Amino acid sequence: METAVAALFEPLRVRGLTLPNRIVMSPMTRNFSTGGVPGPDVATYYRRRAEGEVGLIVTEGTGVDHPSAIGEGGLGKRQSDIPLMYGEGSLAGWRRVVENVHAARGLIIPQLWHMGVYRLQGTGPHPEAESIRPSGLWGPRGGHTSTSPEFIAKVIEPTKPPSDELVQDVVDAFVRSAHAAMSVGFDGIAVHGAHGYLIDTFFWHETNQRNGRWGGDIRARVEFGVQIVRGLRQAVGPGKPVIFRYSQFKAQDYAARIANTPEELDQFLQPLAEAGVDVFDVSARHFDRPAFEGSTLSLAGWTKKLTGCTTMAVGGVGLTRDGQIVTDYNLHRVVARIEQGEFDLIAVGRSLLNDANWVRKVRHGEPFLPFTTAAFDTLI
Ligand SMILES: Cc1cc2nc3c(=O)[nH]c(=O)nc-3n(C[C@H](O)[C@H](O)[C@H](O)COP(=O)(O)O)c2cc1C
Repeated sequence: METAVAALFEPLRVRGLTLPNRIVMSPMTRNFSTGGVPGPDVATYYRRRAEGEVGLIVTEGTGVDHPSAIGEGGLGKRQSDIPLMYGEGSLAGWRRVVENVHAARGLIIPQLWHMGVYRLQGTGPHPEAESIRPSGLWGPRGGHTSTSPEFIAKVIEPTKPPSDELVQDVVDAFVRSAHAAMSVGFDGIAVHGAHGYLIDTFFWHETNQRNGRWGGDIRARVEFGVQIVRGLRQAVGPGKPVIFRYSQFKAQDYAARIANTPEELDQFLQPLAEAGVDVFDVSARHFDRPAFEGSTLSLAGWTKKLTGCTTMAVGGVGLTRDGQIVTDYNLHRVVARIEQGEFDLIAVGRSLLNDANWVRKVRHGEPFLPFTTAAFDTLI
């Protein structure tokens, strides 16, 4: 093994799981699960990453068991090809994925997803279902976004906010899907609380202007996430971890922030940690960008410092800053931060999309494949 990267290959115990190394496959929507069912090609795709020695795989976002969860999403997604975490066919497909990954001695955890404001009305497996937005708001106009103006025009008009009971139904849907995931043998649960999708829009003051149980100050806005985490913690049992992804940025506005100061971040994170999060998956576009003025700590670093939880950073590992060309120039920066205890795990997205053997190459100091955008269009 290359000694320069030894810190990446220190095992890490999280609840009953022992991760063999610190490199985690980041959740990536692939749109290859026709009718919501992951087929043999999806199983082989994940198995290849397990064979390539990825420490833990977090799957692409999978629709939770609520008719409002999934649909056309404005980011060029084929609406019927996002996998679901409910229904006989989808669960049989996931069982095959899990068996393949376990046969290659890998670990795999599904990411539970509700698209919320990013689900276009009238689309997805249940076109009749109303989309759900905490206060009926999609987001502010004029944000720094890559969502197309055509899509924004279709979603910008406010809709009727859901009742408190309907919000509770969605919490229950997350928990049902967590039970379903356990029934097919997954090693834990991950939840998508980032990027401006449903959970994140409860956190964000721009999209959650509710009063009562699910809205108000930051503590009230985090309650939806807290209730989901509590339910998931029970569903997975004591031996398996709950991984919670959050981000400052939103797809509606990359400049958005949940917390402007470490104190605000603390108010946001503590209730989630207390509810049972084992691993915070801190989504950022650059893993080592300072989170607040006056400190070089990344957002993942602050998260670990404030909560003491196991923390995972992500963003741009193995890639140049413009995200186009694979290069190993930044791995030493990841290693340094892990050695200093700033965060514990590093999630890798596009580099692992491009090369299933990326982790093995890191271990042996072998050159990476040149990055090709073909990785986005096929299950290589
Ligand atoms: C094709 C693609 C699909 C993605 N889908 C998801 C997703 O389903 N859930 C999620 O939380 N993040 C998703 N992401 C974000 C990645 O998990 C990751 O945070 C991001 O790509 C930055 O990591 P990287 O620079 O290593 O690629 C996706 C990214 C890509 C490139």
